[in-house]
Amino acid sequence: MNRQTPLTLNVNGATHRVAAAADTPLLYLLRNDLALNGPKFGCGLGECGACTVLLDGVPTRACVTTAKVALGREITTLEGLGTRTALHPVQQAFIEEQAAQCGYCLNGMIMTAKALLDRDPHPSVDTICRELSRNLCRCGTHVEIVRAVQRAAELLAAQATTQSAVHEGGRA
Ligand code: FES
Ligand code: FES
Repeated sequence: MNRQTPLTLNVNGATHRVAAAADTPLLYLLRNDLALNGPKFGCGLGECGACTVLLDGVPTRACVTTAKVALGREITTLEGLGTRTALHPVQQAFIEEQAAQCGYCLNGMIMTAKALLDRDPHPSVDTICRELSRNLCRCGTHVEIVRAVQRAAELLAAQATTQSAVHEGGRA
């Protein structure tokens, strides 16, 4: 039975309460109830990666993840990375490298790249390709996407250097 129950979701650092059946796909709740439209509906089968969000930092296909699985975990969507005026370095890099044509795959590419760079700040091209191999891009911007992830690694390294200099300056 698909009985609606109150569910509490932790999304992008905020607590949200929704009424839904516990087996509702997380993607539906994010898009329809919370108006978080960064994650896209592509295949709905866990195959394309357009719906990717981070669950406790791990890239997860929200179309085949039930609300029940996400309870008590930190959900991060594209909206949780940066804003229009303060982009996350991964978002900035995708713009700089013009890694979009239609843009439909980019949510999944960016979220997967973010999780990779959190684990491995200097990934090789092989690692980037392997990590993104299950995210489909029908427009064929793969070369630009790989360059964007490399550029994001540079931006994150520069950001870390600046923050460390500011920290050291504050202690002097
Ligand atoms: S929409 Fe979720 S993997 Fe395609
Ligand atoms: S840019 Fe269109 S699907 Fe990737």
